[in-house]
Amino acid sequence: MGLSIVGTGRHLPKDVATNEDLARVMDTTAEWIHQRTGIVERHFAAEGEGASDLGAEAAKRALARAGMGASDVDYVVMSTMTPDFHFPGPAAMVAAKLGIPGVPCLDVRQQCASFIYQLQLAHALIGAGQARNVLMIGAEAHAGFMPWEDWDYLHGKGGSPPSQDAFDRATRHRGLAILFGDGGGAVVVRKTDDARGVIGVDVHSDGRYVDYIHIPSGFTKRPYARRDDIDNDLHIPRMRGKELFKQAVTKLPESVRTLCARHHVKLDDVDLFVAHQANDRINGAVRDALGLPAHKVPSNIAKLGNTSAATIPILLDELNEQGRLKPGMLICFLALGAGLHWGSALLRT
Ligand code: COA
Repeated sequence: MGLSIVGTGRHLPKDVATNEDLARVMDTTAEWIHQRTGIVERHFAAEGEGASDLGAEAAKRALARAGMGASDVDYVVMSTMTPDFHFPGPAAMVAAKLGIPGVPCLDVRQQCASFIYQLQLAHALIGAGQARNVLMIGAEAHAGFMPWEDWDYLHGKGGSPPSQDAFDRATRHRGLAILFGDGGGAVVVRKTDDARGVIGVDVHSDGRYVDYIHIPSGFTKRPYARRDDIDNDLHIPRMRGKELFKQAVTKLPESVRTLCARHHVKLDDVDLFVAHQANDRINGAVRDALGLPAHKVPSNIAKLGNTSAATIPILLDELNEQGRLKPGMLICFLALGAGLHWGSALLRT
């Protein structure tokens, strides 16, 4: 008994912001961003467009590609670090948008590492006979916490240049603001009666590093939000970029090596390493640490930035569209994200 990927889909909001656009509202340059991250542009959700909207559109495409109706789905597992509401999570909203209210829905809060945990869950649900068709979704609308206000000016469509204070504020958050982009990705997996599916998963979590990237405003801790939290930008994530970078380039290769050794898989036998895209330099370092050829570690960060929980499902859909997912392949997924949560998974297609 196993599982098989039967459909993938993605949906990107239409607004694109280039590095040059960002350099209009903060102290940075297009070259700096490109050299330090590999990113050239990213999409941003429109005002009022939430993770549930992007996720639902991606899910519709994945279902269409699977040749399935939404009513065939018997479990939804959704991840986002930018939910439409602080609570409840958006999984049930997506199911409602798909016209399948009542279907069980889980919100998985593992940020950029979500897909690895989702895959483990789907494998367990299917293995335990609790589901046959699982819809896995990652979607993000980071635009809401970007540290500028005049989006027209950012896009070069009029508006007014930022005041010195606004420019300084955006510059204070530039490490974060240059990295993230928005989008949704979805994957449908179905129970099979053969050996396809998840070979193994290696996942870890360590809350000691919570402040490496988190939103500092308490929200649900007494006294909830303070009146001046917004003035102090406590609704904008704080990120310790250098420390996160170091965690990623050490923990990811370690996890992949451990997982492959546990399942007697040689790195050479893996056809594709589908990695989270936080910074192209991180993936370059992981590649070097594991001695992997570049063609086995696809990248889409140049056009999309870091789309957090949406990254792996979006990348998987791109690979699917390019005809790069073939039956019988061995894929290794790897990711690290806020929490910290990280790990890897091996899947036979
Ligand atoms: N534009 C121009 N200069 C910038 C800049 C920007 N956007 N961001 C930082 N700088 C400057 C800094 O002020 C610093 O200058 P100084 O040496 O004069 O003090 C210099 O560039 C280096 O800053 P640093 O923060 O060390 O940059 P970095 O090389 O570590 O790159 C990140 C910053 C955020 C791109 C990088 O740390 C990173 O990608 N980390 C991982 C983040 C991550 O994975 N997040 C998501 C987790 S899922």
